[in-house]
Parts: sequence; C-alpha cells; structure tokens
Amino acid sequence: MSEPAIAADGETAIGDAVISMRGARATLGSRPVLRGVDLTVRRGEVVALLGANGSGKSTAVRSVIGQIPLTEGEIELFGTGLRRFRQWSRVGYVPQRTTAASGVPATVREVVSSGRLSRTRLGLLSRADRAAVDRAIALVGLADRAKDSVGALSGGQHQRVLIARALASEPKLLIMDEPMAGVDLASQEILAATLRDQVAAGTTVLLVLHELGAIEPLIDRAVVLRDGCVVHDGPPPKAVGQHALPGHDHVHPHAADEPLRTGLLT
Ligand SMILES: Nc1ncnc2c1ncn2[C@@H]1O[C@H](COP(=O)(O)OP(=O)(O)O)[C@@H](O)[C@H]1O
Ligand SMILES: [Mg+2]
Repeated sequence: MSEPAIAADGETAIGDAVISMRGARATLGSRPVLRGVDLTVRRGEVVALLGANGSGKSTAVRSVIGQIPLTEGEIELFGTGLRRFRQWSRVGYVPQRTTAASGVPATVREVVSSGRLSRTRLGLLSRADRAAVDRAIALVGLADRAKDSVGALSGGQHQRVLIARALASEPKLLIMDEPMAGVDLASQEILAATLRDQVAAGTTVLLVLHELGAIEPLIDRAVVLRDGCVVHDGPPPKAVGQHALPGHDHVHPHAADEPLRTGLLT
C-alpha cells in the first residue's frame, strides 16, 4: 500500500511523498513502541493517524520530526533523508497537549511569532514575517486576543495559539497531534474551519486523532496503529465512537457480514 506510484515514464514518483516512513522501529525505555511502521503521506493528502492510547501515534509523528530516533528503518521528508533535511520552515508541528501550564508567561503574538523564527535571519521578524504572524492569529480567530497572555486563555484558545504558531511559517506540511483533545466545541469548529482552509490551499496534513468528528470529511486516508504496528491503511473507519476511547484496547470478534470498517480501533 505504501509502494511508490510508478510514473508514466517508468520513473518512480518518489518525489510525491511528503512523508515516507519505512520499517520504523523505536524503543522508549526498554519498550518497543514502533515495531516496523510504514507510513506514507503524499503531497496534498490529509491522513489521519488513529489508534488506542499507547499504540505509538505520538512516537510515530515525533520520529517524523526527528524528536525520537529510530532504531531501525528510515524516514524521508520531501524526498530528503531526515538526517540531511534542513527545510524545517516547510513543516508545521503542533505537539500533543500535556498540561495547559506553560512556565513563562508570553502573549499570544509572542508564541505565534516563535513559529516564524525558522524563516527569519537572526530571529528578527521582517514586515512580511509580522504580517504572516497576524494572518495566522486571525485564522484561528484570536485577533482580539493577540496581546493577551496565553495564561489567560481557555484550553481551546490555547490550542488555537499552538496551531497559529504552526501556521505562521506557512508550512507545506502540517502535523498535528490530537489537536481536538480537550478543546471546547467552539474552538473545535474554528480548528476544523482553519484546517479546511489549509487543505483547500494544498497543504499536506498528518493528523493524530482519537475520533474523526468534525474533521472526518477532510480525511483522505486513515492509518491505524495497534501496539506499534499498522493494522489498517485505507479509507477512514466509520465506527470511531466509544471504541476509540482509552481503555478500549481489547480485541473482540466481529460477524463476517459486518462492515470491515467497524471496530478498527478496538
Ligand atoms: N518517555 C517514555 N519512556 C518510556 N515509555 C514511553 C515514553 N513515552 C511513551 N512511552 C510509551 O510508549 C507507548 C506509545 O506511546 P505514544 O506514542 O505516546 O502513544 P499514543 O500517542 O498512541 O498514545 C506507550 O505505551 C507509552 O507508555
Ligand atoms: Mg499521543
């Protein structure tokens, strides 16, 4: 399934893959967390990475951005091996939220500006950089909060700040780890709309999700992890309700005539 397409001239169209992860193995502590993961995301695709808690989703995306070393396998970004990849301004990354608390109080604009640093020289923001920062803040509906401390924001607004930070560099590839988790409904709708705009503009997206929810219509393909292995790569599974929630790690049989797509996350 992750075989590269063969172009008409017989050449392998490997350039089309924005993310190419092959045979990825990673160990955290002494625990094998990725056990041979293949994950390809092609230009313009929106791919959801699904799976129960602890299945290795965050580890997979963190290894894509070089935060976790692989013990085996390889990763390419935009056709370049990760070790040689330097064009980080093309990649926007929103980490999974751990705690809402952030040590140093910073304003919304300061945090979002930090996402633009990879584009600047010596960390100085040009007029164009500042305009991109303002655009990103407006995109997530926080223009009126730009000068506020992020500490004063709700969880959902805080998440929007992190997404604006990722968008500030106008990335070609956007990677978000559970962007909807712990986010109020109003913020979820704004995030979905923001994502829709990005997708319409041709941004390639890899989303770690617990449930598809409002984002489902945008998803081209879903990759499901279970215990560090890919157990599905294809159309988004339909039944992503209770089964996707933590603690539903059990395997149970399905009747043969049941749609293949149900229960993929159980
Ligand atoms: N720093 C760490 N040290 C040891 N084990 C870890 C560490 N971080 C995560 N793990 C374990 O790795 C597994 C996969 O974690 P993770 O990639 O965060 O899963 P997911 O994002 O799918 O919930 C889990 O079992 C988790 O307990
Ligand atoms: Mg995670």
